[in-house]
Amino acid sequence: MIGIFDSGLGGLTAYRELHKLLPNEQFVYFGDTGRVPYGSRSHEILKKYARQDIDFLRTKGVDVILAACGTVSSVVLDEIAAEYTVPLVGVVDASVAEALAATQNGIIGVIGTGATISSGAFAKKIKAARADAQVVSVACPLFVPLVENGYIQRDCTVTKLVAADYLAPIKASGADTLILGCTHFPIIADIIGDLLPGVTLISSGAAAARAIAKEYPTSDAVGSSEFFVSDSPVNFDEVARVFLGGETVTAKKVDIEKY
Ligand code: DGL
Repeated sequence: MIGIFDSGLGGLTAYRELHKLLPNEQFVYFGDTGRVPYGSRSHEILKKYARQDIDFLRTKGVDVILAACGTVSSVVLDEIAAEYTVPLVGVVDASVAEALAATQNGIIGVIGTGATISSGAFAKKIKAARADAQVVSVACPLFVPLVENGYIQRDCTVTKLVAADYLAPIKASGADTLILGCTHFPIIADIIGDLLPGVTLISSGAAAARAIAKEYPTSDAVGSSEFFVSDSPVNFDEVARVFLGGETVTAKKVDIEKY
């Protein structure tokens, strides 16, 4: 069983890919919708939230946990991974590897939450692997509430306007590859892609999903997916259904503060 968590809907970008690659697997997803956004939280709070999310998923008997959250992956995952016997996988390594494989000109853009960009986690890993790479990092925190509130249609004027402003430095840099370092961002990949024609977009959640699927034994059991959230499921279910192409999602509410 694979556990996946995020502050909200973003981790579905990893879930969608994993579910496609491992259709017979059992999944349990937790979206911390009662405490989203994570990207503006302090290090200490993020550690507390990540531990609670992990502890909740452990009660379900998962074999591996994907922190499908760029913020948790960048800021606290390395620090807390040693506390657990269950393997914890983040989204940084796999997306950096895909970006390095994709870039032709060595100019790589990274967008993420404020906490992710301040941590420098993506840029450090890119530079460690390729010292001559040029990294252009931009925090795009407003994308998170836009996605959580369903402003995700390709022609959404509000999201297009915000994106044009955020992405101007990426465009100006000549980057040919852009890491969507927050897992919420691939949900508006159409809008981002329209503003950056010719740029290869790397979904950090999907990249991590591909990395896990490569290692995970395939099964011929009957697959299943359970979704949990920490606030009312209504909005989550609705946006999740749109993003997952019509799949019905019926999330259950969990009191995450108990963990
Ligand atoms: N989806 C998460 C990330 O990848 C968190 C966004 C947020 O809650 O600020 O960073």
